[in-house]
Amino acid sequence: MNRPANGNLEPASAAVGPVGASDARAFRNALGQFPTGVCVVTARAPDGEDLGMTMSSFNSLSLDPPLVLFSIDRRSHRLDQWQEAKGYAINVLAESQRDVSGRFARPSSNKWAGIDFDRGEAGAPRLRGVNACFECRPFAAHDGGDHVLFVARVVRFRAFADRAPLIFCKGNYGALKPTDEPAPIWPLAIHY
Ligand SMILES: Cc1cc2nc3c(=O)[nH]c(=O)nc-3n(C[C@H](O)[C@H](O)[C@H](O)COP(=O)(O)O)c2cc1C
Repeated sequence: MNRPANGNLEPASAAVGPVGASDARAFRNALGQFPTGVCVVTARAPDGEDLGMTMSSFNSLSLDPPLVLFSIDRRSHRLDQWQEAKGYAINVLAESQRDVSGRFARPSSNKWAGIDFDRGEAGAPRLRGVNACFECRPFAAHDGGDHVLFVARVVRFRAFADRAPLIFCKGNYGALKPTDEPAPIWPLAIHY
């Protein structure tokens, strides 16, 4: 194996060590090396207002029961309404929906003007043109440091396999470059 002169496995530019306030930027940048899709998570707030926020923190959690997760910054000015909502729609954006991602990433009261949607579980807005939509009920909420971790139970979903996903990586949007090399099928029964 070729090692850099300092004897480490990686060049010195790869930051290591405990994460403190001074290297918060380096920590964020390192996290940004992990590509994600982009979702707009929506809910109808108890006060009747439609909530919608661009999120990359969505992930699968459990097949049985069917659980997913996402996290919301504690500084979100509608956090209490998110926590009291009776249902969520997790709208997985398509590559063509960068403008929708931008719209719901802004702290604006006018996010919904011109947005085409219908309503799903507990009135949560389901956006048109998305790659997939998971309709959920709240399952649990946990302390996630400066975020709140939401665990949600999927009650209904739809997926459009012919659409390409929007990708987020290193602070930029991107697109998938598919290969015909299959990944291992997972989970396999043999794993457990
Ligand atoms: C690609 C992308 C992913 C994001 N992911 C999250 C996320 O997972 N959780 C979060 O709280 N904010 C996330 N944000 C930031 C929110 O979308 C943004 O702060 C939004 O304006 C908050 O809405 P609010 O003002 O209604 O609270 C993300 C923004 C972008 C552009």
